[in-house]
This record gives sequence, structure tokens and C-alpha cells, in this order.
Amino acid sequence: MDLIVKNGTVVTSTDVLRADIGIANGKIVDVKKKITASGETVIDARGKYILPGVIDPHTHMELPFMAATSADDFEAGTIAAAFGGVTTILDFAIQPKGNTFLETIELWRKKADPKVVIDYSLHVAVTDLTDERLAEIPKVLKYGVTSFKLFMTYRKEGMISEDWQLLEILRASRDRKFLVQVHAENPSIEEHLKQKYLKEGKTSAEYHPRSKPNFVEGEAARRVIYFADVSGGNLYIVHTSTREALAAAESAMSAGTKVYVETCPQYLMLTDEKYHQPNGRFFAISPPLRSKKDNEALWSGLTREIVKTVGSDHCPFTSAQKDLGKDDFTKIPNGVPGTEVILPILYSEGVGKKRITLNQLVKVTSFNTAKLFGLYPRKGAISKGSDADLVILDPNFKMELSQENLHTKIDYTVYEGLKVRGVPVTTISKGKPVILERQFVGERGKGQFVPRDLVTAL
Ligand code: URP
Ligand code: ZN
Ligand code: ZN
Repeated sequence: MDLIVKNGTVVTSTDVLRADIGIANGKIVDVKKKITASGETVIDARGKYILPGVIDPHTHMELPFMAATSADDFEAGTIAAAFGGVTTILDFAIQPKGNTFLETIELWRKKADPKVVIDYSLHVAVTDLTDERLAEIPKVLKYGVTSFKLFMTYRKEGMISEDWQLLEILRASRDRKFLVQVHAENPSIEEHLKQKYLKEGKTSAEYHPRSKPNFVEGEAARRVIYFADVSGGNLYIVHTSTREALAAAESAMSAGTKVYVETCPQYLMLTDEKYHQPNGRFFAISPPLRSKKDNEALWSGLTREIVKTVGSDHCPFTSAQKDLGKDDFTKIPNGVPGTEVILPILYSEGVGKKRITLNQLVKVTSFNTAKLFGLYPRKGAISKGSDADLVILDPNFKMELSQENLHTKIDYTVYEGLKVRGVPVTTISKGKPVILERQFVGERGKGQFVPRDLVTAL
């Protein structure tokens, strides 16, 4: 063995137990009550929880978007992720119009491969779905990319998909068992409202959420869920923000439609009051922040296991980049950093406040994600044969989140002043510490692209 993690409390999707973990060649080789060391490196996890490394299914590193490029590259972004206990990110490779999907993946791999400090995989973010691209899908699945995101909005940004495209790819996903991720917002209404507000001289960040009221997401979610229903496809609604979209997914789920819901920490923790602050533009994301009622509905969705995964939608823009929309809210680059806070927020606000159990924490941060995205049991598990991707969380470590103690390149955090209790202290990627006692000890380029299998239904 190369490493033994001793004396900790191991948490999986089903168990919480005292056990030691033996690791060799990057894999878990033993999990039992006591493993006696004979010269191996030992990490003592007494008083701490050991969880499968977090899989963040939703990041945008180095993303060219809305006249800016998200400011964390794959090195900075994966270092920040690792500080948050993340051992795998799934990033979106955005298809330049006219490019094939495989060209798109190669483009993204050129950026990511030399820089990542933890493992990663890719989704294709589709901007140009044609018959040729539909025919290319089997090759992409064989390559190990088994999820495709389509945007129901972002017409001006050249990223929108039409209803027929959503329907066709959902149809294809039924037989081939891949996942269709959808950004659900009604473009016609939001574009109309944006133009109306601009004409009235209403240009501040407050009008960002007003141009995208709850029903803009709710209607689009219902529409695409209906497409999933008639096609039998595998639908995954990304960054769900409203109680309306959640309710639509919940009733479809109970009728047997294959629809999976993701939310993000910002939709659990923050409200649209943030847009009234002088720095309101920092909070411009799509869909926008909502109300306390929506926060609570999403927490309840986690408690009741309707929400299956939590991703960060880490799409970080600096304050200078956000200033592009100082005088016109439609020009604010949309996105906030967040990969580093998934685990501390879900532990502190979720487990700490008894909204979710430790097992549910593991389900939404790694186990369910691994299953849906074809990574299980290689990842998302603490069992013999799995990758030794682990996070050691100190339940008594208190921290006040602030720009200074987070590791993204961004010069603000939307969580400034939030007090958390329960922080990841050590992150192990394939048997090697990347973060050790809150110090970065990893190496650029040491992470790897991970080819994925097809969807395992939950
Ligand atoms: O505001 C957001 N969510 N920015 C990133 C792009 C996306 O739609 O996920
Ligand atoms: Zn989106
Ligand atoms: Zn996103």
C-alpha cells in the first residue's frame, strides 16, 4: 500500500462507519476497521469525516461568453475546486458553430489537459445541432463524453437551440442512454422584457431578474419535460432555481418521465435582494437569484431527494468584467464562482441544520452525479477498486467565507461574510494529496481526462 487514511469516519451514500482506508496505485484496496501500517504514509483523520471526493458536474473554466472569458483557467479553477473537496469537475466544451462535437472536445482538452490538478471530464454544450451532428453522437459516446447541454435561451449569444433540436436529441438519448442537459428559460419573454426595460431607461442590475421572472424558467422547464415525456429521453435540468421548475419535474418524475434535477448553492443560499445593492451586477447569473420561498423549496427538494445533484455552475467573472454591464444589465457577463463552496455550504447549511443527512450529502455531491454521468463505481464510492478520490472534512472547522480565504482568481465572493462550520481540510486525488491540511500540494497537469460510461438511471 502507498497510503492509509486512518481513524476517520467514512461516509458513503448508505453508511457512516469508523474505518481505515488503504490505498495503492491510486485505487482503494481496503476499507476495514483497522489497517496496520507497515511503513506507508499515514494520514490521521481522527474526529473527521471521509467522503468520496466531490464531483462538480457544472463548471465553465476559460469560457468565452458575453464579450468576456471566465477568469479562472483550468489550473486556477481546479485548485479552487480541490480546496472545496472536489476531485472531479465536468466542464462544458462549447461547440463553435460549424465545428464537429469531436473537434469541440479536442479544443477543450487542449486547454484543460496541461493545467488540471484534479481529474475532469467534459460535456458538449451544443450550439449547432444538425443531422450530421446527431449522426456523430455514437462516436462521441465511444470517446467517453456521454452528456450534451442545450440552451433554450441565449439567442443573442448564438447558443440557443430550437424546440425541434431539443426533441431530436432527447429522442436519440432514449436509445443510446446519454444525458441531455437543458438550460430552461423562455427566450421570447426574456428578450421582450429586456428590450422593454432598456427602452424605459431601466438599465441597472435590478432589471436582470425582472426580465426573467420565475415563470420564464417554469414554462421552459415544463416544455422540455413534455418533450422528454413524448420522446422517452433522459433529461437533466441544470441549475434549477425556481419552485415552479422543481414542481414540474417532481410531478413528471412521479409519472415515470426520466427527468433529473440539479441545483446550485447560490439558488439555495441567496435571494434577488442582492440585485438592489450597488454591486448588484456581481450577482448576475442565469437563471437569476430568486426568493426565500424558492430557496426553501429547493432545500426541501434535497431533503425529499427530488433534487439529485448539486453543481456549482462555476463561471467566474472579475468585477472589471462585470463592469461591462454597468450601464446596461443585458451586457453583464452572467456567472459567479462557486466550485469551492459546494461542500462547506451543503455540510454547514444542509447537514448542520438537519435539512439533509450525511448520506444524502454524499448522494448529491458525488454518488448520484457519478451514476448519472457514467463515472460510477470508479468515482462516487469508497470501496475496493474505486479511485482513491477522497475528501477529509473537519466538522468543527469554522470559517467565514470571504474573498481572501477562497482560491478562485475572482476579486469578490457572493458569499462574503457567510459563516460555515465544517470545512474540507484534505483532498486526495487518486491516492495523492492535492490539498493537505488546507495547503495546496498538488501539481499542474496531474489531473486526467476521464472517459465516461452511459447513464445509470436513479
Ligand atoms: O449565469 C450562468 N449560469 N452562466 C454560465 C452559463 C450557463 O448558462 O450555465
Ligand atoms: Zn446554463
Ligand atoms: Zn453553467
